[in-house]
Amino acid sequence: MDISPARTYADTAELIATEEPDFPSFLFSERLLVNAIKTFQSGFDGLLTYAVKANPSPHILSIMHREGLKAFDVASNAEMALIEKYAPGAGMHYNNPIKSRREIKRAYEEFGVRSFTIDHVAQLDQLAAVVPPSEDVEVTVRFKAGKALKSYDFGTKFGVMEDGAISMCTLTKAMGYTTSLCFHVGSQCEDAYAYERHIAATGRIAQASGIELKRLNVGGGFPAPYISSSAPPLEVYFDTIHTAVTDTFGSNKPQLIAEPGRGLSTGCTSLLLRVKHVRGEQSVYLNDGVYGSLMEAMILEFMPPLRVWRGDKIVGGETWDFKIFGPTCDSYDVMPQTFLLPAAIAEDDYIEFGLMGAYTQASLTDFNGFNRRELYWVNDILV
Ligand SMILES: Cc1ncc(COP(=O)(O)O)c(C=O)c1O
Repeated sequence: MDISPARTYADTAELIATEEPDFPSFLFSERLLVNAIKTFQSGFDGLLTYAVKANPSPHILSIMHREGLKAFDVASNAEMALIEKYAPGAGMHYNNPIKSRREIKRAYEEFGVRSFTIDHVAQLDQLAAVVPPSEDVEVTVRFKAGKALKSYDFGTKFGVMEDGAISMCTLTKAMGYTTSLCFHVGSQCEDAYAYERHIAATGRIAQASGIELKRLNVGGGFPAPYISSSAPPLEVYFDTIHTAVTDTFGSNKPQLIAEPGRGLSTGCTSLLLRVKHVRGEQSVYLNDGVYGSLMEAMILEFMPPLRVWRGDKIVGGETWDFKIFGPTCDSYDVMPQTFLLPAAIAEDDYIEFGLMGAYTQASLTDFNGFNRRELYWVNDILV
């Protein structure tokens, strides 16, 4: 599907000079998305899929499809419909363990899904009530093996412990499904060795349950290089995963699957917000906040790279710590972390936040009627 824009701007300065955007704006660089895809395609030795939830925008999905992604991690029927439309023919892995029977039925019958993740034995009954056991259907058991030193942890909500995973794999195999394993080390995982620990556990689970593991899904979690990040480069993650798989399985390696969300989609988009108001005690009020594009930065408290624009010129000079507020009438609409901004920042300036493609466009709300955001294609943006 052709999703090309009417115009692509050379850089952020040209965009501001031409459009003077007054609404929150996502600046998308196709070049940077293609670079991110190529980094994973050349570095990760396995099937590269994309976690649609990170950014389900049509332009992102279409470009991933065009660049050769053969399958996508989907969390809902609505995401399946998006894949059908923007990545026709691509495979879908229904990796959200929490599903209703109605959703499973639609996935199986309407969208042709043949790969499902579960993390509780009751979900096996739920699945079997709708999807007849067969070797053509892959059931992936999601387990957890401890918490990563530094990540946005999913372990409290998802994943069965190692012992439970062994019995679930045994049962899944006995029922006649093809059995696989997966884990998610947590999002923005700055601890590459969390993958190693989980892969070692995979070997133990497969051996104890007697399954011959054809596929192993190492999930997402690949971090973005935020200013606040202490993560090593992505190559360290790829090496750690490949070495751990060789150490665990020798020559009998399963096919690896990765499903990065943030790692693939965040660097290709910066966020341009406008200053509505500045008041004493270093407080800046922007045209979007925690009910919009800053929701995830509020939850994770990460620090993206940023620069301040006045028209098409960057504002420099002395910097101070500022509180950032969003535009709604809710007093929760404030960022917990402070941001180093030029002391001279003023009404109508812009703040461009880099690395803002993941979990931003995906979780916008209309709260207080602030429902308009723009998308511009820009070649050079802040990263
Ligand atoms: C099942 C699953 N896979 C992949 C991802 C993507 O994670 P990340 O954006 O950290 O790569 C998520 C995120 O919630 C997830 O739930």
